[in-house]
Amino acid sequence: MSTAAIIPAAGLGLRLGGAEPKAFREVGGESLLVHAVRGLRAATAADLVCLVIAVPAGTEDIVAKLLDPYVGSATLQVVAGGTERTDSVRFALELVPEDGIDCILVHDAARSFVPVEVIERVVGAVRAGASAVVPVVPVTDTIKRIDSAGRVVDTPDRSALVAVQTPQGFEPGLLRRAHALEGAGVTDDAMLCERLGVTVQTVEGSDEAFKVTRPRDLILAESILAERRSL
Ligand code: CTP
Ligand code: MG
Repeated sequence: MSTAAIIPAAGLGLRLGGAEPKAFREVGGESLLVHAVRGLRAATAADLVCLVIAVPAGTEDIVAKLLDPYVGSATLQVVAGGTERTDSVRFALELVPEDGIDCILVHDAARSFVPVEVIERVVGAVRAGASAVVPVVPVTDTIKRIDSAGRVVDTPDRSALVAVQTPQGFEPGLLRRAHALEGAGVTDDAMLCERLGVTVQTVEGSDEAFKVTRPRDLILAESILAERRSL
């Protein structure tokens, strides 16, 4: 039972700011991308055999050299990403071997500190027969739907809402069929599976799988890392 992981890491990180793309920004002396790869490797139950990473065009060779010491026995391929996240995932998916893989994970480089247990829960659910799996956490804010003029339309029942994280896990054939669909406005891979009418299963996520998005998130990331290193 073997897993391939796709890491979309080709975004520019405009909300984070700074001189380099977000995946190359460092926390605790290492890039977010290195932290993300190390996390996937640490999930030994996932049996990761193949890693495909989408990066900003022109950085493929540097990233391949940078990551080589961290991938262990898994194969590593680095590809230029596309305009949208969904394009980056699709380009990477084209490089995942057709044979010998029973689960494909798609994991944002920016969710660099996802705990091993979350990764293993996702893979476990795919192996148990779910064809699409997402880790989720409860939402803490009240969420409102608004119209184009900013007026509130309604307030969905919060107990029926969750926030979705990565890695998301898929039966490989399903992920390929999903990415063959037109992807405009798509913000995660599970959404494409939903469009195919496939039931997406949820598993428990973690606060530590938050997405590094804005400058303050780096402070939270530093604190999570410091806590882990002190254990
Ligand atoms: N991503 C990607 N290709 C894109 C856009 C995003 O591979 N064209 C990746 C990012 O590198 C990140 C993940 O998708 O790991 C989630 O995206 P997000 O957090 O929005 O990152 P950015 O798009 O880089 O940030 P921003 O939206 O602030 O510019
Ligand atoms: Mg973005």
